[in-house]
Amino acid sequence: MADNNDSENIFERKDRLADAESTVGAPVNWGSSVPGDQSLEAAIAASQKPSVNQHIDGIDQAERPSGPVGLDVGTSRIVAAQNMRNHIHITEQVNAFFTIPISKFSRRILQNHEIMFFERGDQFCIVGSSADNFANTFNTSSRRPIQGGLLSPAEKDGISVVQAVVNTLIQKPKRFGETICYGIPGEPVDGQAAAGKVTYHEQVIKMFLQNLGYTPISINEGMATVLSELGQDDYTGIGISMGGGMCNVCLSYLSFPVITFSIQAAGDYIDTMTGQAVGEPATKIKFIKEEELDLSREAGDMVQTALHIYYDAVIHKLLHSLQRVLAASDKLPKIAKPIPIVLSGGTAMPKGCVNKFRKVLDTVSLPIAVSDVRLAADPLHTTARGALIMAMSESA
Ligand SMILES: Nc1ncnc2c1ncn2[C@@H]1O[C@H](COP(=O)(O)OP(=O)(O)OP(=O)(O)O)[C@@H](O)[C@H]1O
Ligand SMILES: [Mg+2]
Repeated sequence: MADNNDSENIFERKDRLADAESTVGAPVNWGSSVPGDQSLEAAIAASQKPSVNQHIDGIDQAERPSGPVGLDVGTSRIVAAQNMRNHIHITEQVNAFFTIPISKFSRRILQNHEIMFFERGDQFCIVGSSADNFANTFNTSSRRPIQGGLLSPAEKDGISVVQAVVNTLIQKPKRFGETICYGIPGEPVDGQAAAGKVTYHEQVIKMFLQNLGYTPISINEGMATVLSELGQDDYTGIGISMGGGMCNVCLSYLSFPVITFSIQAAGDYIDTMTGQAVGEPATKIKFIKEEELDLSREAGDMVQTALHIYYDAVIHKLLHSLQRVLAASDKLPKIAKPIPIVLSGGTAMPKGCVNKFRKVLDTVSLPIAVSDVRLAADPLHTTARGALIMAMSESA
């Protein structure tokens, strides 16, 4: 947080308060959330702790995490984060399913192998990473309850799958009504087809978290990136989560999400388009991308060349959308200093991605000055960590 003696102190700059008030369209009561509020202090302290990734079954009952939860219901994976004394406890699971016909025999086999499944009509619905294993065995792809960042209307059982996966990661709260904060996407910029879907996605997840005994609150995924990574910058900057189905963007000013939007092009788009270009399945491309891609080096073969091309396409689309959205906005705060951009999500992870982003940024002119572009400390868990900070700060 800012040094309280700093002449730029966010709580003393009345002109900035006026900006913030006009931004949120309501009076801003800074005094209620300045340091001194215990839950806020604890939330800020949590952002400094390392992540420890552990399966929920592998820990002692006494050691099980409790308290507020940060949840990232992503296209590729679902991640839960909880605060422990010295670390942030992370659990995660692939957000996928695969159906096979019910039989007594296969039920026994699935149970013996501790494979997660539930019954739906005359089908077993296998969920999580086992779904991918089954799909590989049958030489096909697993199905995704969330596509392009949003619950898929094409998958009737989508919400049951998300529930089943979440149930493997978190338990009913010890304290009824515990706060859980879950990430939601911003409205897609060019998504007439997605109109209303963000609301549906948000409300459906909210209902089932309520049924689990939590008090759910939602947070924009780009804003979660800001909360997790930009504490040293007074939560002022641009958070971008580059995931599987979407890139989510949030311009935050003094912790207010001023502008949010998404584009429905990210890792899955890169895999699909590259696969089509070189005549290989997208799942194979995804594997190569995650294991080998280095965007800081010249592409060596056809697959690498196509991956470079589609990475460029996503980053161009992202930054040109940002330029258009900022230019069209009448809510832009006057910010005295250049602000940072922080990238999170799996798609931001390959070596050279941040540099590629910087190079494209140099070619677009934004109405806001940017100081630097950084990669989040723990890109795959940033959304869940940011959501946890929000949950802790809102928790009574
Ligand atoms: N090391 C890596 N290098 C390149 N890409 C990666 C790497 N690890 C993961 N990815 C890609 O990141 C994407 C998943 O990222 P992430 O888990 O942040 O998405 P998500 O939150 O599930 O999706 P969304 O936010 O779009 O709903 C996938 O496309 C995956 O292939
Ligand atoms: Mg995500």
